[in-house]
Amino acid sequence: MQTKIYGSKILITGGAGFIGSFVVEELLKYDPEKITIIDNLSRGSFENIKNFKENSKIEFIEGDIRDKALLEEHIIAKDYVFHMAALRINACAANPQDGFDVMIKSTFDVVDLCAKHQIKKVIYSSSASVYGLAQNFPTPETDNPYNNQTFYGGAKLFGEQLFRSYKFMYGLDYVALRYFNVYGPRMDTDGKYTEVMIRWLDCISDNKAPAIYGDGGTTMDFVYVKDVARANVAALLSDTTDEVFNVGNGTETSLKQLLAVLLKVNNSTLTPQFIEENTINPVSRRLADISKAKLILNFEPSIDLEAGLTELSQWYFEKKVFTV
Ligand SMILES: NC(=O)c1ccc[n+]([C@@H]2O[C@H](COP(=O)([O-])OP(=O)(O)OC[C@H]3O[C@@H](n4cnc5c(N)ncnc54)[C@H](O)[C@@H]3O)[C@@H](O)[C@H]2O)c1
Repeated sequence: MQTKIYGSKILITGGAGFIGSFVVEELLKYDPEKITIIDNLSRGSFENIKNFKENSKIEFIEGDIRDKALLEEHIIAKDYVFHMAALRINACAANPQDGFDVMIKSTFDVVDLCAKHQIKKVIYSSSASVYGLAQNFPTPETDNPYNNQTFYGGAKLFGEQLFRSYKFMYGLDYVALRYFNVYGPRMDTDGKYTEVMIRWLDCISDNKAPAIYGDGGTTMDFVYVKDVARANVAALLSDTTDEVFNVGNGTETSLKQLLAVLLKVNNSTLTPQFIEENTINPVSRRLADISKAKLILNFEPSIDLEAGLTELSQWYFEKKVFTV
């Protein structure tokens, strides 16, 4: 079936990253004319895009979204833009000036240039961080964002509001997606802010007891990266505009439960080591209400935690074999 992606030209900022590289793969199924990726490879990699880097429909630009002239050069004459390049939450806290330049100033440039060059629709990667500790569980999109305490969450919210104002002022169509806890192959394995499940996979690999800080009661809503990529494409294909959607699995999982499933899929008999937590985690609970995305985007998460952690583990151990 031909969709509006067929024969179109698309820009993806941050397309060599974890989620972005899966969005590219999902888009390629719909036969666009060209997908341009701008990524400075600060966290993304050639490894992430090796499946499609040589595809003639792909144009990879190693560059920085802080370079406004570069952004404009690659926004001109595009049909659609996915704005995914961002710093991680801890990187924003460690260096708020960089956070400002990448998350706020460059997002402003993306929005402004998309309006100037009449991009048909932009899909913006927002985050569940905008809620901070939410008021309601499952959390609907209407929960207020005043509990957020992070620069990152504030910057994501600013981005959403910027898109709203540009829709109101200039008619720029967009959809913002608030991802919950995304996991899967191509997660960062050796960065400074490595996700907890990679640290636990390291323990399983080294046959060491995996550590849980606190009582393991903190919950998250883990959503598999390929489901997130499908949500992005669904947001583009849908006629909906000026809307924000939660993208989660709609399942609440404690860290203790997460570790139990990870150990199970790896046939491991290790037992966790509980370590006293010396910092207070202000967000002790996450659970997305995904009914809006189900209703309007037809979004249905298709990969449960056990299947997702199995794929993550396979990828982790294959990668390990190649890097040893
Ligand atoms: N992973 C999650 O759980 C999660 C949750 C909520 C929201 N998000 C958002 O989803 C998007 C994708 O996240 P991800 O998990 O794939 O992270 P990621 O770090 O793997 O991807 C971001 C990409 O942007 C690139 N980038 C960073 N700064 C850049 C710059 N100045 N110029 C050009 N490229 C730059 C990085 O090299 C990287 O490839 C981000 O906007 C992130 O904030 C992710």
